[in-house]
Amino acid sequence: MKTSFFTITIVLLCSTLPLSLSQRCNVKDQITLLRLKNSLGNPNVLATWTSSSDCCKWHFVECDPYNDRIKSLTIFSGDISSTIPDTIGNLPYLETLILRKLTNLTGQIPVTITKLTHLKTLTISWTNLSGPIPSFLSQLKTLTTLDLSYNNFNGSIPPELATLPNLENLHLDRNELTGPIPDSFGNFTRKVPAIYLSHNLLTGTVPRSLAQVNFTSLDLSRNKLQGDLSVFFGMNKTIQTADFSRNMFEFNFSAMNEFPASLSVLDLNHNSIYGNLPEALTRLQLQALNVSYNRLCGEIPVGGRLQNYDNTAYFHNRCLCGFPLTACF
Ligand SMILES: *[C@@H]1O[C@H](CO)[C@@H](O)[C@H](O)[C@H]1NC(C)=O
Ligand SMILES: *[C@@H]1O[C@H](CO)[C@@H](O)[C@H](O)[C@H]1NC(C)=O
Ligand SMILES: *[C@@H]1O[C@H](CO)[C@@H](O)[C@H](O)[C@H]1NC(C)=O
Ligand SMILES: *[C@@H]1O[C@H](CO)[C@@H](O)[C@H](O)[C@H]1NC(C)=O
Ligand SMILES: *[C@@H]1O[C@H](CO)[C@@H](O)[C@H](O)[C@H]1NC(C)=O
Ligand SMILES: *[C@@H]1O[C@H](CO)[C@@H](O)[C@H](O)[C@H]1NC(C)=O
Ligand SMILES: *[C@@H]1O[C@H](CO)[C@@H](O)[C@H](O)[C@H]1NC(C)=O
Ligand SMILES: *[C@@H]1O[C@H](CO)[C@@H](O)[C@H](O)[C@H]1NC(C)=O
Repeated sequence: MKTSFFTITIVLLCSTLPLSLSQRCNVKDQITLLRLKNSLGNPNVLATWTSSSDCCKWHFVECDPYNDRIKSLTIFSGDISSTIPDTIGNLPYLETLILRKLTNLTGQIPVTITKLTHLKTLTISWTNLSGPIPSFLSQLKTLTTLDLSYNNFNGSIPPELATLPNLENLHLDRNELTGPIPDSFGNFTRKVPAIYLSHNLLTGTVPRSLAQVNFTSLDLSRNKLQGDLSVFFGMNKTIQTADFSRNMFEFNFSAMNEFPASLSVLDLNHNSIYGNLPEALTRLQLQALNVSYNRLCGEIPVGGRLQNYDNTAYFHNRCLCGFPLTACF
């Protein structure tokens, strides 16, 4: 009898508690999000954000199951015509912030973002944000992904980004960035991120310091970079995917005769690379190779995968010959 009385009491308590605490969402977070909505001009896309409902159930947000604080804010598209409000910095437990396909989102990245000390993923992509990529982003030490691709950012790449200890992916592609690749990118220590810098206006030579690090994925295509690429190659390197196409690289390819076994994609099209194709390329398990539109000469070495690609991988060179191009004489 005793136990059943307690059981009933506990069952009653449990069924009434959720009613009295029907608001799972943290009140501070709710106030911040409502302010954010207001600063964003109360867009239709945030219609579920109302004071009468639990903010853990609103669209685009996610609460942490342990402390019920807002952990993720992800807006993929919508009628937002505004700048990023300073209020964004008042969601201290945010780990993921994704603002994507918001073409009327304008202005610069607010400094208050540095208050988000738990942020792991910061994606601001396909927006109309402009101005510099701020060096203060290097204060976000927990970042693993920084994606600022497809915006109007200009100015140079802040060297301080190389001090982000946990960075795994850095996407700065499709902006209007100028200046060189920072020397500091040879200083990524704990982790070396996959780096995407394509479709910008970067100039200068690839810094020698980059020889000190093991890259896995690099996309430097469609810039105005010069010099040679020897810092990425050599037996002891670990690069897998390398796109250096559509730049102004100019070097003697024959002189490069050691490539890492890890190399699987190499795109060098539209540069000014001269000399012969190195024999060492036949020893690689390349999934893709493109050396078209350069100034290469001589016979395409026979072996490995080099005869697996169609002629467009090799065409438009000075005097490259042999299968799949026409025979050498
Ligand atoms: C962006 O702004 C333009 C001009 O004010 C407007 O025509 C367009 O509908 C807006 N786009 C979105 C997705 O809100
Ligand atoms: C995007 O920003 C540019 C200037 O940076 C401006 O000319 C253009 O109108 C903006 N587009 C939208 C959709 O706001
Ligand atoms: C970036 O673009 C803005 C607006 O077009 C311009 O005023 C500024 O000078 C540019 N900054 C750099 C470093 O090119
Ligand atoms: C790279 O790191 C070393 C050691 O921390 C430092 O002395 C050097 O100035 C850094 N180089 C660049 C270009 O940031
Ligand atoms: C790069 O990777 C190679 C092969 O795994 C290793 O031997 C070398 O020590 C690494 N270098 C650096 C700077 O981490
Ligand atoms: C490659 O690494 C091996 C062993 O780790 C070392 O003996 C050799 O000197 C390195 N070669 C180059 C070119 O760094
Ligand atoms: C390229 O390098 C090779 C071998 O190192 C050399 O024989 C050749 O003359 C060089 N070609 C040019 C155009 O410098
Ligand atoms: C190589 O690149 C050229 C230029 O972009 C392109 O036309 C061609 O289709 C590519 N070929 C291969 C096999 O990737």
